[in-house]
Amino acid sequence: MLVAAKEMLEKAREGKYAVGQFNINNLEWTKSVLLTAQELQSPVILGVSEGAGKYMTGFKTVAAMVEAMMEELNITVPVALHLDHGTYDGCYKCIKAGFSSIMFDGSHYPIEENIEKTRELVKIAHAMGLSLEAEVGSIGGEEDGVVGAGECADPAECKAIADLGIDFLAAGIGNIHGKYPANWQGLNFDVLAKVKDAVGDMPLVLHGGTGIPEDMIKKAISLGVAKINVNTECQTSFADATRAYIEAGKDQQGKGFDPRKLLAPGAEAIKATVKEKMELFGSVGKA
Ligand code: G3H
Ligand code: ZN
Repeated sequence: MLVAAKEMLEKAREGKYAVGQFNINNLEWTKSVLLTAQELQSPVILGVSEGAGKYMTGFKTVAAMVEAMMEELNITVPVALHLDHGTYDGCYKCIKAGFSSIMFDGSHYPIEENIEKTRELVKIAHAMGLSLEAEVGSIGGEEDGVVGAGECADPAECKAIADLGIDFLAAGIGNIHGKYPANWQGLNFDVLAKVKDAVGDMPLVLHGGTGIPEDMIKKAISLGVAKINVNTECQTSFADATRAYIEAGKDQQGKGFDPRKLLAPGAEAIKATVKEKMELFGSVGKA
């Protein structure tokens, strides 16, 4: 059964580890993430961007696939199905479709509008038993059409959003979606510490989890980060493994056409990436 992400993230914040959110794109992705979480006895969050939801034909299809797969694979670890960088309308659709958690990304609105929309959505999400993530500041780079300037969050604005009763908060601290450029300045831990002071015990979310050095991940967890989002790294692992398999002629020298065989190396590569991240985040054995 799907669960809201509130409890698993509060436990993570207290236990000084983070739960990974891994974005899914299709059946293979979902299966790889779920099987790895079960094998490692780790809680997990399946992230679905609006683009990925559309690709999988709609949020209802996603929710039905995940629920059925969990039942048939006997997944017993806590799993949240979470809308990633949701619009106002997308949040309503996911609540209706059976998601257990939503992110409302109002970071591109003026703060007053972000507050008003978040206030309304947190009320309805909680009434329906879902957890809600909100965002202040912005994540740099681009993910599935969501573009951010990358400005760091204002701690006072973080407090205003946290006071609405949201369950966890994504604050921009110099993190970027996609690969980090060579001249990246690193995470801004001064801002993170100020945000933590402003919002108290609220679990914080670190987006752009691909390519952040291990020491920065650990420091971020020590400063209240309890959820780390990873998307691009699973995609590059999948693409690299698929390409290598075909280029090495392992698909019957270019004559192979069974999709189950062609997709298998990529699915294994996603498992390896998810395992590596769960070990780094410290969520192994915390189910
Ligand atoms: O919302 C999802 C993420 O923040 C993932 O970022 O693609 O850089 O790993 P990433
Ligand atoms: Zn993100």
